[in-house]
Amino acid sequence: MDGVAPIGVVGTGYVGLVTAVCFAHLGHRVVCMDVDEAKIAGLRSGRLPIYEPGLDKLIDDTTERLSFTTSYDELLEGCHILFIAVDTPPSASGDADLSRVQRATREIARRGGERLMVMKSTVPVGTGERVTADFTGLGVSQIAYVSNPEFLREGAAIQDFLEPDRIVIGSFRPEDGDVVEALYRGIDAEVVRTSVATAEMIKYASNAFLATKISFINEIANVCEQVGADVREVARGMGLDHRIGPHFLQAGIGYGGSCFPKDVQALKQLAGNSGYHFQLLTAVLEVNALQKRRVVTKLKQRLGRLHGKKVALLGLTFKPNTDDLREAASIVLAARLQGEGARVSAHDPMIPAGEHPSFPGVAIVDDPLEALSDADAAVLVTEWPEYGRLDWGAAAAVMRRPLLIDGRNFLDPDVVAASGLEYDGIGLGDAEPPAWPA
Ligand code: UDX
Repeated sequence: MDGVAPIGVVGTGYVGLVTAVCFAHLGHRVVCMDVDEAKIAGLRSGRLPIYEPGLDKLIDDTTERLSFTTSYDELLEGCHILFIAVDTPPSASGDADLSRVQRATREIARRGGERLMVMKSTVPVGTGERVTADFTGLGVSQIAYVSNPEFLREGAAIQDFLEPDRIVIGSFRPEDGDVVEALYRGIDAEVVRTSVATAEMIKYASNAFLATKISFINEIANVCEQVGADVREVARGMGLDHRIGPHFLQAGIGYGGSCFPKDVQALKQLAGNSGYHFQLLTAVLEVNALQKRRVVTKLKQRLGRLHGKKVALLGLTFKPNTDDLREAASIVLAARLQGEGARVSAHDPMIPAGEHPSFPGVAIVDDPLEALSDADAAVLVTEWPEYGRLDWGAAAAVMRRPLLIDGRNFLDPDVVAASGLEYDGIGLGDAEPPAWPA
């Protein structure tokens, strides 16, 4: 396939880089473009701006098909098909901030030429219409537009790209969708062909539904604590019903990351802007925010005032196998604990020891036992495998009070308790069930 014109990818974040490298793996030549000179310089010398398992190896394997540039002119010289994978962070209003998308699409439009623009970034429904109307306003008529949302999980992004549950392609004209579909040749997955607006909505609806599942099981967990049921068994029993499925029923301290929080908010906002009050999503967001506070409440129930107490956080990233701290529960938790007057120490396999701008005043160390030393309590925030292997007996020995709140229900309560720790998870109700009504 090396003779075929290369694919251009604008944006070398998680989505852009994984997309580029995976297309190169499928045999395409790919030009990656980013306005961030340092990122591109790093990539040229083999330094990755992100941690994603397997990405370094795949880049090494595909290096002769990949090139990197900071110049739109260079990108557009050879590329007819252009994937847009820039970020769409939440704006102050909760709407997705499309300024980077707009900058990229206009830079391309302004340079003319016949192009096929493929939107990978998560954008509000109607963006495809808006971008094409913008092109018309600029007098550009030769740019076709396709929506091709990504469904990549960090930590499993390469597998999700190469073995996806589905590929969604929304186009205004079928022939443009055909071109994009052909790029995925070699991947065995159902291709869902739709209009642009429908493809845009599939992405938001999928993420909002997954977030709803998490908030739902978190509320079930909270009730389990009141009535003496065990949410892990409840989730297992529910998940065996094929209409429900076993995935995304893991109760914990709430979802984080670069997608769920912003996408749920953006869909709620999008609905509101069009006159519809999306009640369910309001609750999903609220439950997720409250779930982090419950950990603080659990600590207070056991320790009384937190003022002057030391709390150790195990794990800071929003989930394991990533170095991503965006919207991580740890950030809110650390700040709330400090607000209560507690001293906070922390360990995370991916976050270097020392000061970190997201955790002012938090003592981040590179040994979990050092973080736990003299602590009045520990909270397991991220289910890193190393915490499963930790010597919990040694942990109990160094803590002032060996109390562990497992915010992910990750550890075996019996093993931890046998090591001498007081253990509590999320939704592992040991409360007495309510009495019969009189
Ligand atoms: C998510 C979507 O899965 C992906 O399809 C989308 O394109 C981008 O957003 P990602 O943000 O990488 O991917 O993380 P994911 O693995 O989905 O987890 C999101 C959050 O939900 C994490 O904080 C995780 O801890 C939490 N979670 C997940 C739960 O609390 N319980 C669960 O059962 C599953």
